[in-house]
Amino acid sequence: MTSKTSNPMWGGRFAAGSDAIMEAINASIDFDRRLAAQDIAGSRAHAAMLAATGIVSNTDSEKMREGLLAILSEIESGKFDYSTALEDIHMNVEARLGEIIGESAGRLHTARSRNDQVATDFRLWVRDRTDDAVKALESLCRSLLGQAEAGIDWIMPGFTHLQAAQPVTWGHHMMAYVEMFGRDISRFQDARNRMNECPLGAAALAGTSFPIDRDMTARELGFERPCANSIDAVSDRDFALEFMSSSAICAMHLSRLAEEMVVWSSVQFGFVTLSDGFTTGSSIMPQKRNPDAAELVRAKTGRIYGANLALLTVMKGLPLAYSKDMQEDKEQVFDVADSLMLGLAAMEGMVRDLTANRAAMEKSAGDGFSTATDIADWLVRVLDMPFREAHHVTGELVALAEKKGCDLHDLSLPEMKSIYPDITGDAYGVLGVYNSVCSRKSYGGTAPSRVKEQISRWKEILK
Ligand code: ARG
Repeated sequence: MTSKTSNPMWGGRFAAGSDAIMEAINASIDFDRRLAAQDIAGSRAHAAMLAATGIVSNTDSEKMREGLLAILSEIESGKFDYSTALEDIHMNVEARLGEIIGESAGRLHTARSRNDQVATDFRLWVRDRTDDAVKALESLCRSLLGQAEAGIDWIMPGFTHLQAAQPVTWGHHMMAYVEMFGRDISRFQDARNRMNECPLGAAALAGTSFPIDRDMTARELGFERPCANSIDAVSDRDFALEFMSSSAICAMHLSRLAEEMVVWSSVQFGFVTLSDGFTTGSSIMPQKRNPDAAELVRAKTGRIYGANLALLTVMKGLPLAYSKDMQEDKEQVFDVADSLMLGLAAMEGMVRDLTANRAAMEKSAGDGFSTATDIADWLVRVLDMPFREAHHVTGELVALAEKKGCDLHDLSLPEMKSIYPDITGDAYGVLGVYNSVCSRKSYGGTAPSRVKEQISRWKEILK
């Protein structure tokens, strides 16, 4: 069904209005209203520049700037009446400006197009979310640092293949995540630096014949400089993709930590107790405490990956410059930003609130012959044995202990000597888990002295 009148913003050459289905597929106002504040900021900068360059009068510019502020407060107070017939946030705002200030509003769109307008609005929005992500990552790192500091020398099993490998410290394990999230911070910061160029003034794609000042609008909106190629400026969505891919890597990190929370909080592990605030009960099993927040953080990673692929696919094969396909960029990015921010906040809370169960971790740290490497190292260090041979001898010690159903340190000295006669009582010293972690003093190692070094370094960085 076609409505009677053509579109008031671009309908000059159209005799009739859009089909209802056309309106449904074309309109973006239901989601791009989230760009309202950025749209108004961009328009205000543009209006100021139009007056500064003599393209419009100061009076018109002032009216536009004031009117735009009035619209912003209507939007913020929920009084703004969004119209689907006006398609998107840009035309909704401009049409409302006309209602408020009259015909001067018609001069706002001089020397610009919705193509550079949306590219600018969206960059501003993504830049804000990038800053939010960095802030949230910093708080998460602070929570992890808090845990690391409290348990700097608490012993826990370290795993490879999720099999007991060598004892490590809780502090060291927490600090591994600080490194990961620290790289995420720097990825978002790198992306921010690259995205911080202003598309405004690229107009539809070719630039404009009006004597605009692109440096002025760029500066006004906090951009480093204007985009140097007008065709690229309106067709580029790398900034959105970089935000999304940085989010995807970050979500992958969150998901690994979430997985550890799930495993560690199980009765079988018992390494951590998650707080009431971040767990739920079961409606049938009264004993349960379910790590739902961790599970959902883990699951949201899937949405974030999916959105990445969706936008990459939208952009793939698009000819330069703008195509309407690009309107499909926003919902994916909004969903990524929402999921990521929620995930970061939930993880920050979980980490801050959790109780690490020192005794349970330490008890399990010696399981699975986790100090076997220490015995092998002792054979090398004290008896000058080549490591390969020491590995073999230790393997036989492990096999003997396994056969007897005991730990390595439960083997008697004669039993040890039955495998290798030169072993002395001194070897028992390295079999304790505490000695084991303290001995791993190499740079970046798990010895509490090394972990302390890293905690101080990160505290300085996050100050
Ligand atoms: N709503 C559009 C979008 O999000 C704005 C740009 C429209 N430009 C155009 N030439 N139709 O992409």
